[in-house]
Amino acid sequence: MPTLLATWNEPGQVVMDAAVPLIRKGLPMVDCIEAGLTAAEDDPNLIAIGRGSLPNADGELELDASIMDGSDLSAGAVCALRGILPAIKVARWVKERTPHVMLAGDQARRFAIEQGLKPQNLMTGEAVRRYDEWKDSPEIQERYVHSVRDTVTMIGLEGSGHFTAASSTSGWSFKLPGRVGDSPIIGAGIYADDEAGAAGATGLGEELWKACASFRTVQNMKLGMSAQDACEETIRHMLRRQPHSIENTCVVLALDRNGNHGAAVTHGLFHLWVHKDGVTTVEEHATLQP
Ligand code: GLY
Repeated sequence: MPTLLATWNEPGQVVMDAAVPLIRKGLPMVDCIEAGLTAAEDDPNLIAIGRGSLPNADGELELDASIMDGSDLSAGAVCALRGILPAIKVARWVKERTPHVMLAGDQARRFAIEQGLKPQNLMTGEAVRRYDEWKDSPEIQERYVHSVRDTVTMIGLEGSGHFTAASSTSGWSFKLPGRVGDSPIIGAGIYADDEAGAAGATGLGEELWKACASFRTVQNMKLGMSAQDACEETIRHMLRRQPHSIENTCVVLALDRNGNHGAAVTHGLFHLWVHKDGVTTVEEHATLQP
């Protein structure tokens, strides 16, 4: 039976609501995951993904997304994509329709338009209001230092051991224009390898990227660790080597070849959605104790 993991309470609910009915219909995991992330990107209430999410310091939304196929390690990604939804579809097209792994910025947008997507304004009235409030208030700006939360990352297992991983985000709220986090970086935000398992990350992208968090976690499973042990080893490594990784929640989640799942957190509380054996549940993961 297929297994699917997704990150955070609210976005996790949106992606599972879209993906699980497709799993029940027997669609390939890659299509279920794309449908889940597309629904989240289109939901104006989610502040860290797609339409209505919080923009960069210029008031513009820059989206990052990635997808990876564990059967052949093929992958596609976009970063700093403006005015185009769904970013996850563009990432998938980069994987399937080009010889490349990543397209960036204006040229990612140009590719998306050439492939048939229409540019659109993704800023909602509420996002504009929150941007104006942030711009005018040093106190609010202080609150948003290290504000990276609610990136939606999904990893799935189907058949006799095939893994897919994908992620989509608008990244750090009110970020420096051009900033790119871990989510579209293969090995940082996602990784999938049918020889070992799949892993994903969410949280402070700078730290997760420096740790190569997803690749590290999959390598841990390749060395024989369970999904849970593999996540804990990655987070322990971050706590030991990267003191900034506790300034914001940093999370890794994983699925191993035995169908076990796991997650670990540097700091704070994390909610993990798990669809397994036909049942969907939400787990709570707290700061990893040394
Ligand atoms: N983890 C999302 C980001 O840092 O952009």
